[in-house]
Amino acid sequence: MNSFQLYNPTRLLFGKGTVSQLGEHVKPYGKRILLVYGGGSIKRSGLYDEVIAQLNGIGAEVFELPGVEPNPRLATVHKGIERCRREKVDFILAVGGGSVIDAAKAIAAGVPYEGDVWDFCVRKAVIQEALPLGTVLTLAATGSEMNGNAVISDWEKKLKRGMGSKLIYPKFSILDPQLTFTVPRDQTVNGIVDMMSYVFEQYFSLTTDTPLQERFAESILQTVIENGELALKDGTNYAARANLMLCGTYALNGTLPIGVETDWATHAIEHEVSAIYDIAHGAGLAIIFPNWMKYVYKERVDRFVQYAVRVWNVDPRGKSDDEVALAGIEATRAYFTRIGAPATLGQLGIGGEMLDRMAEEAVRFGPIGNFKKLEKDDVRTILEMCL
Ligand code: NZQ
Repeated sequence: MNSFQLYNPTRLLFGKGTVSQLGEHVKPYGKRILLVYGGGSIKRSGLYDEVIAQLNGIGAEVFELPGVEPNPRLATVHKGIERCRREKVDFILAVGGGSVIDAAKAIAAGVPYEGDVWDFCVRKAVIQEALPLGTVLTLAATGSEMNGNAVISDWEKKLKRGMGSKLIYPKFSILDPQLTFTVPRDQTVNGIVDMMSYVFEQYFSLTTDTPLQERFAESILQTVIENGELALKDGTNYAARANLMLCGTYALNGTLPIGVETDWATHAIEHEVSAIYDIAHGAGLAIIFPNWMKYVYKERVDRFVQYAVRVWNVDPRGKSDDEVALAGIEATRAYFTRIGAPATLGQLGIGGEMLDRMAEEAVRFGPIGNFKKLEKDDVRTILEMCL
């Protein structure tokens, strides 16, 4: 196990009716609030009215930034930054899924910064200061509600990039699983794949002597697998939605990577695909991950054997290690297919035209991943396997 630091300042307010605590948690940060939300799901569900009532209850003045896109755009972030500066906003409240939360984080970092907020995404500058923000989560997937990351797309340049800082952790996040009852089937599927993929990035590691971290990861995977299917059968199953929500948060809140060298190559590759084709992050991951697994598993067969046996109950008797490892990978693919996630880029209408560009961009700062260091040709091969 490697040495590590663990830092997570986000307060979680989890459970039925927790939106009723919103006002008291916003209050300490000031009265001028930027309310950031997406394309209208919060209006349809009635959550918008509840949020406004809470903010009115503390005498807040509310400015709005609606229309944040899935795969949030830099132009929208710029709009939010300008609004905050013009209205002298004290606090940003994101109400929605990962895209809304990420846009709010980028706005929070961009307001006090004199240059372009995109600088944080291309490692030209480091976040030194940020407005405080809080979230009300409506979709279980990215873990953005309890981490310091934000992913933004420059649509003009077809680039999708992330920024990270301890300064953009939400001060609090409200997680009422009932708010996810209205999440459509395809988004629920994407969320399930997303959570599992975060775990994979932190579980398939060359670091040894980390049994607790491995079992944390395996238990999140098993909980997602079981509850994912239950939530897909009945979207209003509170227990299933609650368990999925907690898994999404814990998959990416810093618990899993303690003392472990993580990978993240698959995410880097997926970001290149969704930057060009604007597909859902979870859909891209469902296609790429099983192929990445097949490409790299020989680097450490024992971890893939453990995964197959512990997570998918593959019976190792009478099989070689390679056979067990591959059975685990096949079980992953079969689960994704069973819940309705795509298996090939072709299914999403994506051909091979841009493979070179995507591979090149993925390794722009050098080889990606740690489980196996991937160069441009490796990335291209994995993408070819996805076609
Ligand atoms: O925009 P609205 O109308 O709210 O609709 C959204 C959107 O169309 C809808 N939705 C959300 N909650 C709903 C709902 N519909 C009905 N009922 C509800 N309760 O779902 C659609 C997708 O929302 P989005 O926020 O885009 O999904 P997700 O949470 O999966 O976020 C994806 C974004 O997060 C980034 C991804 O790259 C992508 O841009 N990521 C962020 C990370 C982070 N901050 O740590 C890490 C991830 O790897 C990821 O890259």
